[in-house]
Amino acid sequence: MNILFVGDIFGSAGRRIVREHIGHVRAAHKVDLTIVNVENAAGGFGVTPGLAEEIFDLGADVLTTGNHVWDKKELLDYLNSAAPTAHDRARRVLRPANFPPGVPGYGLYEGKTSGGVDYAVLQLQGRVFMTAIDDPFRAADALLAGVQAKVIVVDFHAEASSEKAALGWYLDGRVTAVLGTHTHVPTADERILPHGTAYQTDVGMSGPYDSIIGVEKDLVLHKFLTAMPGKFEAAKGNPKMCGAVVTCDPATGRASAIQRIMLGE
Ligand SMILES: [Fe+2]
Ligand SMILES: [Fe+2]
Repeated sequence: MNILFVGDIFGSAGRRIVREHIGHVRAAHKVDLTIVNVENAAGGFGVTPGLAEEIFDLGADVLTTGNHVWDKKELLDYLNSAAPTAHDRARRVLRPANFPPGVPGYGLYEGKTSGGVDYAVLQLQGRVFMTAIDDPFRAADALLAGVQAKVIVVDFHAEASSEKAALGWYLDGRVTAVLGTHTHVPTADERILPHGTAYQTDVGMSGPYDSIIGVEKDLVLHKFLTAMPGKFEAAKGNPKMCGAVVTCDPATGRASAIQRIMLGE
């Protein structure tokens, strides 16, 4: 089976380029499961329920987020509306599983593809150069212990490539894929690890690449040059949809191939 994972949608340019490409990519690769990271879909900061619905309408099965998940207050009610055992769209929007206990939302979703294959999507967030949260490695152990599905995709939302590589090796053979998000810069290290886990340090953002990781470059340059605070705005230029297609055996969950994707206008 084939799994499409789309990296962080950034702003309107990111939404537009994903709308342009996601359908034909899903068709060309006979995709069975589509996962999209949407943490920057709303102008670079978070995602609203309306935008999440739009991306579900494009064929996404599960949406992941990250450190920007709380940026849009209206998402909290949406996440809170989902029962733990539900399969509605609100339940299929994830936030990192290793956030402190008691916060809204879920970090793990277990579902079934239209072809009848059980799958799980787990989102974790790193701790290196990021907010101090619970240990993503132990959180993965605890959550994976209860998962029945063989096909398991992990979105590891983290800054440091070392921490991402470490989780890839840590979960090799236990999950189908460990795919990195958050840096917005795609890495060229996609591979199948020895025990059958597909790995890529960061799949890159789906957004404007004439920017500084999605933001208007002049605004970020001003901040670097003056160390003064300023308002960030999403850039528009040179949008690309980035992600990866992972091929795996649905019976074992072992990956056999991973292909990096970068599609422009
Ligand atoms: Fe992001
Ligand atoms: Fe992020």
